[in-house]
Amino acid sequence: MGQKGREILEIDVNEVIDDLNSAYADEWLAHFQYFLFSQVIEGINAETLKKELEQQSLDELGHAKKLGDRIIQLGGTPTTKVTEVSTCGFTPPPPQDRSDLKKIVELVIEGERCAIEKYNRLAKKYHMKDLVTHEIFEDLLTDEVGDEEDWESYLPGLG
Ligand SMILES: [Fe+2]
Ligand SMILES: [Fe+2]
Repeated sequence: MGQKGREILEIDVNEVIDDLNSAYADEWLAHFQYFLFSQVIEGINAETLKKELEQQSLDELGHAKKLGDRIIQLGGTPTTKVTEVSTCGFTPPPPQDRSDLKKIVELVIEGERCAIEKYNRLAKKYHMKDLVTHEIFEDLLTDEVGDEEDWESYLPGLG
């Protein structure tokens, strides 16, 4: 990053990189969770949901890319310790019953809600400290709010 770009930070750059890396790890695990779920679900109603999960998986990867780009711009390195630094990341294995689509959707909603809380907190934290990073967290917050709404809308149709 250039000289002026560094000067305008009103916070230690390493703290910014750590926050970005924690979110980066969350997004990789969200990407992974959606990818895995789209692959394993089965049953008569699974086809539509598979496509939605696949598309969502790509969206979360796009989030990871945005965060990674900012980390690099700040002179950091995107983390490889994904499971260590994530706080919202994927933990539960897919349900035993792979046709339990309601459970699948409930699990992804949990992840989206965690992301909403985290990005809301981080967007506020960076508002007066680093406007570029603030804007990234704000954009991601907007996306995750939309994601939660989309996934919630599936629930009634799944019994
Ligand atoms: Fe995301
Ligand atoms: Fe999301």
